[in-house]
Amino acid sequence: MSAVIVAIDGPSGTGKSSTSKAVAEAMGLSYLDTGAQYRAITWWMLSNGVPADDAEAVAAAAAKPVIDSGTDPAAPTIAVDGTDASGPIRSKEVTAAVSSVSAVPEVRSRITALQRAIAAEAPGGIVVEGRDIGTTVLPDADLKIFLTASPEARASRRSGELKGKDATDLSATREALIKRDAADSGRKTSPLKKADDAVEVDTTELTLEQVVECVVTLVEQAAAAK
Ligand code: DC
Repeated sequence: MSAVIVAIDGPSGTGKSSTSKAVAEAMGLSYLDTGAQYRAITWWMLSNGVPADDAEAVAAAAAKPVIDSGTDPAAPTIAVDGTDASGPIRSKEVTAAVSSVSAVPEVRSRITALQRAIAAEAPGGIVVEGRDIGTTVLPDADLKIFLTASPEARASRRSGELKGKDATDLSATREALIKRDAADSGRKTSPLKKADDAVEVDTTELTLEQVVECVVTLVEQAAAAK
């Protein structure tokens, strides 16, 4: 199989990360979580006293952090300036600030260049998950998937993930998700949007296994057509 490039986009709570990792593992592909990169740069801003809502200050600092992503789907990693950031990037503070930081054009162009370089270097192909992969980062991807789910399903999945880490209740999670999606979809620079040629998969009534099976079949078809 020649290197196949798969873009998986969609809002949070649609099962994007779990699906992307499982598909990459099943197909022997690399895996890139682009949300983790935006979270990593946001964590660096917060740790270095750059206010997330000050777009000018964020733009001026956008080139400073060194961000490294490990692309093994069985054990993806993210490091900032050589330090493992996989824990802190999931904090409440980072989650609340990431939409404003990721809306800054200088941040997006920096991270987009990183993502393209990683995809170009992935030996056997890669699954890249995010919000603007099919529309902006990899418009020539061999396969584009856009995952959706009802707000209720997304909030209950997110609450499940947060259990034990955070005392956020379902309605607060739902509100926060809706707010973040609105910010991500409404921003000027490469908003969350389905690419015209993406296959939309509504995961509301599907188990993770069913979604993975469906996407694996689509990847096999895309690879065979290359
Ligand atoms: O997938 P996630 O929830 O970890 O993403 C965190 C944030 O990063 C999300 O609110 C929007 C932003 N993001 C983005 O703007 N573009 C991407 N390709 C991926 C994530």
